[in-house]
Amino acid sequence: MNKEVHTRRYFIKSAFIGLITGTAVLWGSMVGRQKTINSKKKFTIPYNPNQEVSFNDEFIVVTRDNKIQVLSSRCTHLGCKIVSESDSKLLCPCHGSSFDLEGNVLIGPALRPLEKLDFEIDRNSSILTVQL
Ligand code: FES
Repeated sequence: MNKEVHTRRYFIKSAFIGLITGTAVLWGSMVGRQKTINSKKKFTIPYNPNQEVSFNDEFIVVTRDNKIQVLSSRCTHLGCKIVSESDSKLLCPCHGSSFDLEGNVLIGPALRPLEKLDFEIDRNSSILTVQL
């Protein structure tokens, strides 16, 4: 009888420890995933307001009529990097898609516009910070 009580206590204690451990592991993985979501990359570059289009590694800065836009340089077709502009068109080198300077598709195969990226500009120092 005494051994049975010991076994039941042992089971309850083990189940409780297992529940606490499982909860801790689950919580840790959720916190790790949230950190990944919140950790956007930031890029800081000098901003030249006299340059209509400038290509950077991951983004394109477009300045028109004193309005600045930052577009992803990743083509929305299959992700090739857009690195050139001609006649106010952004040209994808891979399959021929082209986009206007607002990022809208002019010629496919791409179907979606280029992603617009969040940015901040410090006009005193002419520093542009882009979040990817
Ligand atoms: S990746 Fe740009 S057109 Fe295919």
